[in-house]
Amino acid sequence: MSQAPALALAIVISGRGSNMVAIAQACARGEIPARVARVIADRRDAGGIARAQALGLETCVVPARDFPDRGAFEAALRAAIDASGAQLVVLAGFMRILSPEFAQHYAGRMLNIHPALLPKYPGLHTHARALAAREPEHGASVHYVTGELDAGPVVLQARVPVLPDDTPDSLSARVQQQEHIIYPRAIGWIAAGRLRMGANGPEFDSRPLRQPLMEG
Ligand code: GAR
Repeated sequence: MSQAPALALAIVISGRGSNMVAIAQACARGEIPARVARVIADRRDAGGIARAQALGLETCVVPARDFPDRGAFEAALRAAIDASGAQLVVLAGFMRILSPEFAQHYAGRMLNIHPALLPKYPGLHTHARALAAREPEHGASVHYVTGELDAGPVVLQARVPVLPDDTPDSLSARVQQQEHIIYPRAIGWIAAGRLRMGANGPEFDSRPLRQPLMEG
């Protein structure tokens, strides 16, 4: 029986890369029909680069601070992504705001994971903001990237309870456990052809996805 070729991923990180590791492990275990073509970081001290190398993955650093402006950095980032042959760009803890032009170039081919139940809490410090607002629950969202920050169509979410003694760190840890489940899952759906970006928005199993799927 012939198998579809594995979907090539470029995973773009800024930090420790725990989502990148979860995705790479799901690929390596054959749980999703995808492969990591390259892991790219925007800073030399991103801890995820050493973790990617330990997994035998190809890595590349495009240090944002070496470029005179965002346009020059994004041109180099695009070159690094495209040279890898990636079919899907996976932002995984990438802590930089991309230009609308960059997002448009990869429209329908770029995903992000955000630590909140979007459209609630776009931007930074989501866990502290959810605690301050006394939310009963919080979570994570996988979404297609558009030119507007954290506002592209959400495809999959996971909820977690907020517990009475939670701190931003304890809540973040609970959310991350879910991120490591939902990000590989959404990528697997794309790789298997179940999830795609259609002309009018995301489609799941050939039907318009009118609201995000919910894990669990
Ligand atoms: C993740 O929790 C991700 O949701 C968040 O950064 C963390 C990266 O962790 N992303 C954002 O806040 C994007 N605005 P990781 O490096 O261990 O995967």
